[in-house]
Amino acid sequence: MISLQIYIYPDYDALSKATAEHVASVMNDAITARGKCIVALSGGETPKNVYAALASESLKRRVDWENVHIFFGDERMVPADDAQSNFGMVKRELFSNIKIPQKNIHRIWAELGAEEAAIAYEEELQIEMGYEIPQFDLILLGLGVEGHTASLFPDTAALHETERSVSANFIPKLNSWRVTLTLATLNNAREVCFLVSGQNKAEIVQKVLDDESPTFEIPATLISPIHGKKQWMLDADAAALLDSSKYPDLKKF
Ligand code: 6PG
Repeated sequence: MISLQIYIYPDYDALSKATAEHVASVMNDAITARGKCIVALSGGETPKNVYAALASESLKRRVDWENVHIFFGDERMVPADDAQSNFGMVKRELFSNIKIPQKNIHRIWAELGAEEAAIAYEEELQIEMGYEIPQFDLILLGLGVEGHTASLFPDTAALHETERSVSANFIPKLNSWRVTLTLATLNNAREVCFLVSGQNKAEIVQKVLDDESPTFEIPATLISPIHGKKQWMLDADAAALLDSSKYPDLKKF
């Protein structure tokens, strides 16, 4: 039985700070329980201020970065110094401002090309977590307006990958390749945390939470951690269309 928690914050700044606090707390709890924490971070624009908050003087000291391993939920096929690179964004916002061992940073080597990068990333996951489907302590996910998450876009091939933990995925609407964790990996996490901000996401948030049964047309509806927790961190704009009476555990701040 998964637990679903929804937290709503007044604005993007409050949402970012609260999400950073939550990520730090999950990291510390995992280290206390198992000696290390393994997380997969999201790309895109929304999490930038979360990573900046996590690297702030007040928060970064609270995390034992020596025992935190950071992976990525997905990556675009661009060099690390490209503005579109998820790794490049996290490096600027987080890695450049904390003392984390280089060996604890596990990027997707986009320069190899999608298929080779997916193979190399899966091997790195296996080294860190063994040959079963990896179990992350936390996977931070964003949400696209049409319901994609990580790089699992509607009606794309990687949605149907059931064996591998990582997959190359061609995205017709973008006419580009991505590398992404697969549903098997996302749904094996101890916790999946969706981070969504902005009025432009209100409709898809409502669809995914209120209305939709699981469908390949809206990949975020397929995220259901089999033995973990699903948490939604939203700002008021993104939550504007939610029928809060449906969620007894919904908390507004
Ligand atoms: C990516 C992300 C993707 C992102 C959503 C939302 O690489 O783009 O992994 O899934 O989280 O597209 O992106 P924004 O936060 O920019 O709206």
